[in-house]
Amino acid sequence: SEYDLLVLNGLVVTDQETGQFDIAVKDGKIAKVVPRGTLDGVEAKKTIDAQGGMIMPGGIDAHVHLAEPALFGKGQSADNYETGTRSAVAGGTTTLITFAPQRKSEPSLLGALEATHALARDNCYTDYSFHLICSNAGPQAISEFKALREAGISSLKIYMTYEALQLKDSEILDVLFEARKQKIVTMIHAENGAIIDWTIKKLEEKKLFAPKYHVTSHPPVAEIEATYRAVSLSEFIDVPILIVHVSSPAAAKHISDAQKRGLPVYAETCPQYLFLTRKDLDKPGFEGAKCVCSPPPREGEQDHEGIWQGLEDGTFTVLSSDHCPFIYDNTEIGKKACIDTEYPNGHFKYIPNGCPGVETRLSLALSASRLKLQKFVEVTSTNAAKLYGLYPRKGALIPGESDADLTIWYPDGYKEFELTNSLLHHNVDYTPYEGRTLKQWPRYTVLRGEVVWAKDEGGLVGKKGYGQFLKRNVSTLAGSRSEEEWDVEKF
Ligand code: URP
Ligand code: ZN
Ligand code: ZN
Ligand code: ZN
Repeated sequence: SEYDLLVLNGLVVTDQETGQFDIAVKDGKIAKVVPRGTLDGVEAKKTIDAQGGMIMPGGIDAHVHLAEPALFGKGQSADNYETGTRSAVAGGTTTLITFAPQRKSEPSLLGALEATHALARDNCYTDYSFHLICSNAGPQAISEFKALREAGISSLKIYMTYEALQLKDSEILDVLFEARKQKIVTMIHAENGAIIDWTIKKLEEKKLFAPKYHVTSHPPVAEIEATYRAVSLSEFIDVPILIVHVSSPAAAKHISDAQKRGLPVYAETCPQYLFLTRKDLDKPGFEGAKCVCSPPPREGEQDHEGIWQGLEDGTFTVLSSDHCPFIYDNTEIGKKACIDTEYPNGHFKYIPNGCPGVETRLSLALSASRLKLQKFVEVTSTNAAKLYGLYPRKGALIPGESDADLTIWYPDGYKEFELTNSLLHHNVDYTPYEGRTLKQWPRYTVLRGEVVWAKDEGGLVGKKGYGQFLKRNVSTLAGSRSEEEWDVEKF
């Protein structure tokens, strides 16, 4: 046959345009995107009738934690590379960028990269890459940035909180300075560690241990201050940064102010900051532990509204899941590992931070019918590819350039159902979104021309190990701030 796959009768939506196009795929790549009917009679090994459903570039989730050691709190990651990437394809996501964590006791980043490669190799249903987590920014780690770029890694994550991960401001400057030279995008977890630790002590003095006190111990001001500090450090070095998992509209304001001044400051938000509030942590008993993540869900609707607006107006470049999975009902490895005789109802500071969400990210956001469709594609796929050096191979449907990665939805009005955890493919015993009404779910997920998810025709039909490691290039979004030599006398 002329083509390997045809996808017909769909409404194609990319970040650039929307239209009734048919798609032809050859050798894992997009070969043609042409007006409906143009491919009638053309031969192919396989044909998908999209029946009027939307077709988008496959989802890219650029913030996913899999098989990471617990570096704070008790418990251990529930998903490994097999179960996490399986869950992703069932939710319409074809590329993940997960984390390769360096421990503070470990001077090398390349060692962390190798260890994470070993966990992912031959285990993935999605294509994948890694952001290196730099928690020891000593001379060895800094000297390895160049080798990381050569190994296809063009982004790092650093933390301003968590004892096991936190860098001092001087260390952040060291990272940013070398990141500037090597054209690496630095992702920053922006919360003020001292405010958090101080507040935890105050709560403990009053014997306040319930899950809801996690929210109290991570106040908006901790995020607002650290966000402004991160912006300032990036401005001083003149280097692109991305503030991860922004929850607070006031923190987002610092980011949009910086962007208006022309600074290369990017930002990410996540579904938990659009759909959850502190009330989700204030439930009887230990139930609230399910929604413990950092930063925590905020006050209420006004915060959700502010975050949606930030997606609409471009303050946020990407909508990622921050999938960080812990089983709830397990006292050895789950959230309940924080329960002991001293704290029979658990202690919020030991509850492992993170919620599952790699599978629900796209459907939740699409079902909310809040973003224009092209904007939805931009923040859930295209921008992640541009920001992290995967564009136009990923995040686009450009003939001859892009991989044939597709998320194909049901026709409008075809489905409305109640989300329940038993529908999901992660290795977690709950979803924070249990019982929510969804209007959409991916009908097919296609990775490099292969159908890997077919909801009504076998469900998960992809193969573990089909997913490939993606060598990434320099960011095409984050500009060329590092072209000129940084001059110590310039200020
Ligand atoms: O609570 C969260 N977000 N857990 C994952 C670790 C992180 O900081 O991203
Ligand atoms: Zn973080
Ligand atoms: Zn809301
Ligand atoms: Zn995270």
